[in-house]
Amino acid sequence: QGQGAAPGGAPADANTILLGQVGSLTGGQATFGISTRNGIELALKEANAAGGVKGKKLAIRVYDNQSKPEEAAQAATRLITQDKVALILGDVASSNSLAMAEKAQAAGVPMITPSSTNPTVTDKGDYIFRVCFIDPFQGFVMAKFARENLKLNKVAVLQDNKSAYSIGLADVFTRKFTEMGGKVVAVESYSQGDTDYRAQLTAIRKSQPEGIYVPGYYSEVGIIARQAREVGLKVPLMGGDGWDSEKLFELGGSAISGSYFSNHYSPDNPDPRVQKFIADYKAAYGAVPDALAALGYDAARVAVAALERAKDLSGPAVRDAIAQTKDFPGVAGTVSLDANRNAVKSAVVLKVEDGKTQYVTTINP
Ligand code: PHE
Repeated sequence: QGQGAAPGGAPADANTILLGQVGSLTGGQATFGISTRNGIELALKEANAAGGVKGKKLAIRVYDNQSKPEEAAQAATRLITQDKVALILGDVASSNSLAMAEKAQAAGVPMITPSSTNPTVTDKGDYIFRVCFIDPFQGFVMAKFARENLKLNKVAVLQDNKSAYSIGLADVFTRKFTEMGGKVVAVESYSQGDTDYRAQLTAIRKSQPEGIYVPGYYSEVGIIARQAREVGLKVPLMGGDGWDSEKLFELGGSAISGSYFSNHYSPDNPDPRVQKFIADYKAAYGAVPDALAALGYDAARVAVAALERAKDLSGPAVRDAIAQTKDFPGVAGTVSLDANRNAVKSAVVLKVEDGKTQYVTTINP
């Protein structure tokens, strides 16, 4: 059931603007939803302390999608028809956001995904936005890093066939790495939730790669890292933003050390605005914010600014206001939305070492 705001599912009262979030608070990607919720909550608290929007307070209703697209679609429908929210924030995993976007677009309710990077999410229509970069860029980033920084010639790819995100990122990486003169010597796949990857990893070992690109989610990647070492693969693993979770280090242990992934943000960024966000978040939630928390915070702040700017709180007015977002100073980079409602921004590459991440480099679009 919903959390936050007043219970009962009635539309917001005259003094409140109700927003909605759909997130994976339980299931395989639970840390994604929880971090995002915290980031959003912090941003709304700050906005309310600063007087709210158009003289009204902001509230949010949050629904769990259990990390499943069908649940995400249903939760979006509930926010639209029952709670009558002004705007929807979420989800993280692209497969979930795709399911939600369909509902939001059909109903004319604006949706901002903080962190779904698959390009087809915003293709669902003119009510669907994101404050992060997209995977055609993210795949290029790791291909470039693999070729130019790690100087790899031969790599293998291991993708999650149940995730639109993973399939898309694997494709772009393969294309870019090949264009840059590298060779993809093996492509293997798994299904989200699998626990034994030894057959695929053994096949990969036979192709003698110098690195393995694993664009999956932390829940599987941590286990894959351990099993890769077990079957005798010593080469670095590489991945995308889906690796970003404290749980990656727990699951992967020392096997994940020495691996690299692309991400939206690094807590090592010395920018005082970023450091203030990190300090505030730590004080509230007792943890260093990950990229999901940072993007949740940015998405909520972009939403608040748009609601303030909108000529009224109707779907079309709020949509038009979001579309005008330009040079918005986020903690995970500056948000300027392009004609396809995607943010164009740089990515960072992080190295996993001793149970934490280290900033390595920034790659610009
Ligand atoms: N980009 C991932 C997706 O679209 C989600 C994600 C973003 C995961 C940021 C972790 C960090 O599925």
